[in-house]
Amino acid sequence: MAPNSLILYQQRIEQQLQVLMAAQSQTAARLHQAMSYSLTNGGKRIRPFLVYACGSMLKVNLLALDSAACAIECLHSYSLIHDDLPAMDNDDLRRGKPTCHKAFDEATAILAGDALQALAFSVLSKNDCQALSAERRLKRLHVLANASGIAGMCAGQAIDLAQSNQHMELATLEQMHRLKTGALIECAVQLAYFSSELECPATLEGLTQFASALGLAFQVQDDILDIESDTTVLGKPQGSDCKSNKLTYPALLGLEGAKAKAHQLYHDALAELAKLPYNTDELKAFAHYIIARKF
Ligand code: IPE
Ligand code: IPE
Ligand code: MG
Ligand code: MG
Ligand code: MG
Repeated sequence: MAPNSLILYQQRIEQQLQVLMAAQSQTAARLHQAMSYSLTNGGKRIRPFLVYACGSMLKVNLLALDSAACAIECLHSYSLIHDDLPAMDNDDLRRGKPTCHKAFDEATAILAGDALQALAFSVLSKNDCQALSAERRLKRLHVLANASGIAGMCAGQAIDLAQSNQHMELATLEQMHRLKTGALIECAVQLAYFSSELECPATLEGLTQFASALGLAFQVQDDILDIESDTTVLGKPQGSDCKSNKLTYPALLGLEGAKAKAHQLYHDALAELAKLPYNTDELKAFAHYIIARKF
């Protein structure tokens, strides 16, 4: 079961995203609609959760975390729109609804992704967090840019696309997962850290290691659900990986092997939390939710 704080932070981010989209220019009305459609059509909001939960643990005011939470969800939403495109996974269903290119059209979906990516950096650079030093604000932009591009999510997606129908060693599979999914999850905790003025490299490192294990566990579970869940519960087409001959953890290790891997990573994540001199109960509960989730 999801921790209670997940529901609270989900409510907070939903409201923040509504306000954010309402404040955007509607000159290109169809583009605006496509962005809103994808950004506000549900989603578990796990990356904003990490921003809020880690930030709260570090005693950062939630008001000072809203822009980072919005930014990472905008970036994630863009990555999903593009991931579903015919040139990529060619999926028709996302969060139980037609994918952006199905509900609108392909060109609009490409632009909605582009514009959401830009919006992520726009919201993060907005000067609404007066208490935070310019240096820290710059650092937040830097970690988001790094996690999104050639050193992160885009690189992982590129490896993913290149590997269809091909064998891959376990180490390459792991690297792909760490990039395509792990990078943004690590980024979420780093955004929380850099939303504080804390000067504690050990905390930054510990949180990053926690997120690294969690991010990999999250994608292993995503691969397991692609086999075990069903389309209605999942809200996206079950069997999409198999249809595209994607190499996944279950494909390489077997379903039981993949489940054992997810559990091992869960314990790795807990071990990282145990090193932190903070109350990590919320993050512990969240880590369990990540490997127990059904969608
Ligand atoms: C799906 O991410 C894509 C992956 C990185 C595996 P989520 O499972 O976080 O998607 P939503 O936002 O909850 O729909
Ligand atoms: C997508 O991975 C990861 C990103 C969008 C960066 P998947 O292709 O496995 O995600 P789903 O299963 O479509 O959500
Ligand atoms: Mg994909
Ligand atoms: Mg996909
Ligand atoms: Mg998947």
